[in-house]
Amino acid sequence: MIYIKTAEEIEKMRAACDLVSRTLGEVAKWVKPGVTTLRLDTIAREFILDNGGKPSCLGYHGFPGTLCIEVNETVVHGFPSNYALREGDIIGTDCVAELDGFHGDSCYTFAVGEVDEKVRQLMKVTEESLYKGIAAAKEGKRIGDISNAVQTYCERHGYSVVREMCGHGIGKSMHEDPEVPNYGRRGIGPVLKNGMCIAIEPMINLGSKNVKISAEDGWTCRTRDGKPSAHYEHTIVIKGETPEILTTFDYIEAALNGKDS
Ligand code: MF3
Ligand code: CO
Repeated sequence: MIYIKTAEEIEKMRAACDLVSRTLGEVAKWVKPGVTTLRLDTIAREFILDNGGKPSCLGYHGFPGTLCIEVNETVVHGFPSNYALREGDIIGTDCVAELDGFHGDSCYTFAVGEVDEKVRQLMKVTEESLYKGIAAAKEGKRIGDISNAVQTYCERHGYSVVREMCGHGIGKSMHEDPEVPNYGRRGIGPVLKNGMCIAIEPMINLGSKNVKISAEDGWTCRTRDGKPSAHYEHTIVIKGETPEILTTFDYIEAALNGKDS
């Protein structure tokens, strides 16, 4: 069942998405060598709570964090821990916040200090693929058009697309219909309608597409070959030819640029 949001509901989605975007902007200020992922998680949780929201992932089927922590070969769903970030790591922080009954979902992969050029390129292409997917999200087109845009762009650069995890509809629940795979054929799947809210989230590997879930914690999803994976995510609403991107990386970019000066 795909829920089409009313104008009033989209306004609430905007607010939830702004909160999650500002939360990642706070996290961005702290991403540097020596900082533990637990510290980043605390910053996110406190920021969401201080702003009247609820961390959606915390306690979701027992998930222990506000952020999903994705260091290097971790694709998704890693736990915050005492691991201290090291120069050369990349770290994805995936965050969902609920405000006034609606959820906003976004993810950004950060470089910790100087990162290998090959990995930087993976991050850049993955982020670009997110915007390729968004550009394909036009009223009257189908989910497969988004999927195909992401896949084609990433594979053209020699990367592989994770199959096991997908984007998703979002609203009163963090995960709603439809599924939004990052691979697939054009012209298949549900038709995109104005007012549909979806989270698009390419998870792209430098090496092979294969992943495995940790037997130890039942959550942490890593690449099988141990090579890095990048992940970026926006929540959008379908709106004619040009969807509205409800989340933004502007707060993150402002924080990262502030850091350099
Ligand atoms: N942000 C994730 C997503 O995009 C949700 C994490 S699920 C949780 O689907 F269990 F870790 F909360
Ligand atoms: Co998501």
